[in-house]
Amino acid sequence: MTRRKMLVGNWKMYKTIAETRSFAEVLGRNLGKLSAEMDFAVCPPFTALQVAKVVLPTQVAVGAQNMHQSKNGAFTGEVAAPMLQEIGVKYVVLGHSERRQMFAETDEAVRDKVEAAQEAGFIPILCVGENDAERNSGETMTVVARQTQIGLEKARPDGDAIVIAYEPVWAIGTGKTPSPKDAEKVIAAIREVVVVALGETEAAKTRILYGGSVKPANIAEFVAEKDIDGALVGGASLDPESFVAMAEAM
Ligand code: G3P
Repeated sequence: MTRRKMLVGNWKMYKTIAETRSFAEVLGRNLGKLSAEMDFAVCPPFTALQVAKVVLPTQVAVGAQNMHQSKNGAFTGEVAAPMLQEIGVKYVVLGHSERRQMFAETDEAVRDKVEAAQEAGFIPILCVGENDAERNSGETMTVVARQTQIGLEKARPDGDAIVIAYEPVWAIGTGKTPSPKDAEKVIAAIREVVVVALGETEAAKTRILYGGSVKPANIAEFVAEKDIDGALVGGASLDPESFVAMAEAM
């Protein structure tokens, strides 16, 4: 089974509308460097989503960084699927560890968001990963298996309709990474959980990304692993030159 490789930039709470335009301009001058055999996306803050959709080259899809599970309601500060549908986003990052840790998102809330995002026609990028304490106590596999299993409980049995990102929390923004072999081991284990949730055929189609301190200098060694289908990148995705360098290195 060959899965299309993917490079996704998660901009987190960075970039204004003007900065998003500048990013798109530089990317536009480097289009020849983005392989037609791969999928690309960036996930700007909500305020820059619409402009991103307009100014980014069509090869680079737009994703949201979060979404509420209800279609509307009295949820101050939240954004719902119909609002994102109007903009034309393709992906929605769900269950990022920063949402789980700082905004108390539970596995069950993430599961409901996955369901709502798929119903709206988006491809969820379901993030899973252990924190430092969990890693040190040998709980990595248990934690990522639980997050993956619950996250997929209401997902459609369709491997093309979901992307999973393994992001060890201790590797995010720290410059530390697992070895590619260690990341591969965890991601292969995640794929086994996907087999149980979606079935063998769909699990073989499901793309699983690695995220956490990915940069142009180390991306190739991660995507060289059999089960690692690309990267979800924070810091290094903010600079368009480095985004392009990662695309070229993959
Ligand atoms: O979602 C991407 C992310 O959490 C990784 O961030 O800055 O370590 O690439 P960074």
